[in-house]
Amino acid sequence: MSDAGTVLVTGATGNTGSWVVSGLRRRGRRARAASRRPAPADADAVRFDWADARTFAPAVSGVEAVYLVAPVGVAEPMPLVRPFFQAASAAGVRRVVQLSSSAVGRGDPVLGEIHDLGARTFDEYTALRPSWFMQNFVGDHPVADGIRRRGEIATATGHGRLGFIDAADIAAVAVEALVRAEYLGGELVLTGPDSLSYPQAAQMVADVLAEPVRHIDLATDELAARLTAAGYPADFSAALAALDARIRAGEQDFVTTTVADITGRPPTSLREFLFRERRRLGWSPRVG
Ligand SMILES: NC(=O)c1ccc[n+]([C@@H]2O[C@H](COP(=O)([O-])OP(=O)(O)OC[C@H]3O[C@@H](n4cnc5c(N)ncnc54)[C@H](OP(=O)(O)O)[C@@H]3O)[C@@H](O)[C@H]2O)c1
Repeated sequence: MSDAGTVLVTGATGNTGSWVVSGLRRRGRRARAASRRPAPADADAVRFDWADARTFAPAVSGVEAVYLVAPVGVAEPMPLVRPFFQAASAAGVRRVVQLSSSAVGRGDPVLGEIHDLGARTFDEYTALRPSWFMQNFVGDHPVADGIRRRGEIATATGHGRLGFIDAADIAAVAVEALVRAEYLGGELVLTGPDSLSYPQAAQMVADVLAEPVRHIDLATDELAARLTAAGYPADFSAALAALDARIRAGEQDFVTTTVADITGRPPTSLREFLFRERRRLGWSPRVG
């Protein structure tokens, strides 16, 4: 890929995409930030809506590489992603870096199907497969919501462990995968430095906030019912709860050295992340 190549960043306002845009620009690369509501002050922002295929061709025009955040919250994304891949391929895009998940292999439903089609469409396709985001503790995620509202983290994971990762570290790897002359390969499994259980994470949140935060261990169907009652679609709730069951079974209890291997610096620990983001954690009976 030439140094001058423009990179289209989908999900540019999101957890990883925002860091990918800033990381590319720090490296002197042109990042075309795609959003349904592009920032007027950003000359390189472009309107992009998965629900409107007319936005695809202008977004990929003149682009060499794409950072792909698949349509979020869409049960059947292939009818949206297939024409996007066609437009990108026709525009000469050679390299795509997709945000997938450590829980999703090539060919698995939804993100894995996109991974498979992308790998068959583009010369250089890299699926990033990160563990669970540390950002789930501070954003719109049910984990963050439980901390803010009740000082509790309710999961169906038991003492099962996982390698929580900072979205900024995922983005740092994405930038390398997008701009390096060499192709970094078909998939990269990414974790933070430690494999931790939610009870351990709840204790860390409590330490950072100096407030009690407890872990509530639910059965898988109890968690699904809670999420549905909180307003999440039933199928999404069931899917999230099923992932927890896989964590409980130990499937996600591993760490990789990929972030450090590729970026040259160690990934952020959960404790460092929680401390950095402590103002967004929010639970404090004293502050309200
Ligand atoms: N959270 C985790 O622990 C975790 C772990 C592994 C993998 N993942 C995967 O990471 C991905 C991203 O999840 P996230 O929660 O972090 O989301 P996010 O990237 O923070 O936010 C979603 C982004 O998608 C954009 N978007 C939403 N609807 C769109 C549409 N119709 N057209 C174009 N853009 C649209 C939004 O941009 P605008 O609103 O500006 O349009 C926003 O930038 C998901 O595929 C998820 O499965 C998550």
